[in-house]
Amino acid sequence: MRIDIISVLPELMESPFKASILKRAMDKGLAEIHFHQLRDFGLGKYRQIDDEPYGGGAGMVMMIEPLDNCISQLKSQRDYDEVIYLTPDGETLNQKIVNTLSIKNNLIFLCGHYKGIDQRVRDLHITKEISIGDYVLTGGELAACVLADSVIRLLPGVLNDEQSALTDSFQDDLLSPPIYTRPDEYKGLKVPEVLLSGNFKKIEDWRHDEAVRITQKKRPDLLE
Ligand code: ADE
Repeated sequence: MRIDIISVLPELMESPFKASILKRAMDKGLAEIHFHQLRDFGLGKYRQIDDEPYGGGAGMVMMIEPLDNCISQLKSQRDYDEVIYLTPDGETLNQKIVNTLSIKNNLIFLCGHYKGIDQRVRDLHITKEISIGDYVLTGGELAACVLADSVIRLLPGVLNDEQSALTDSFQDDLLSPPIYTRPDEYKGLKVPEVLLSGNFKKIEDWRHDEAVRITQKKRPDLLE
């Protein structure tokens, strides 16, 4: 999978891909991330990328021309499955969207800043708008990292069996059951007997019942 990320602050996004599982995915060639500095497509001597909104109002708007030039250049080089704009007014990210994106080959992520982007960029190029939650970040960069992380970890070969994504919370609309490791007793706090029983059928049943109980308690909306 190749992800092209367009941003005025690409340096904000470097470290997540330089450690641990994401780094390994890059090193193995399973995922490629390419950052594009929008300023390189800026207009005039000052490489302008934003301007005041027509009709007045607070904040600056990211201009159409630099964004169109940057996205068009990328599109002339390969076919993209989706051009995704990270924005608080997008569709709220969930595991289903992540699963769908994980089988794509080429994605563009566009990180917004200021008040957002000229509507015509959305009309012209954007195929999906994603929010990572109902709160506002200073820009789309951290959201782009969250999205890239959630998608890349699902690519075949990225996780090993131990880290398997199949048993993640949300994959079956249930939160994960409680987990424990050694010691089996700590300051009087005991691990549930069933987990020490060696009876795999019983353990599976217990885990499922606990997952349902916890989902019911914390996120009843998932069971509807
Ligand atoms: N940009 C600013 N806030 C955001 C959010 N919550 N999700 C995605 N992009 C954003």
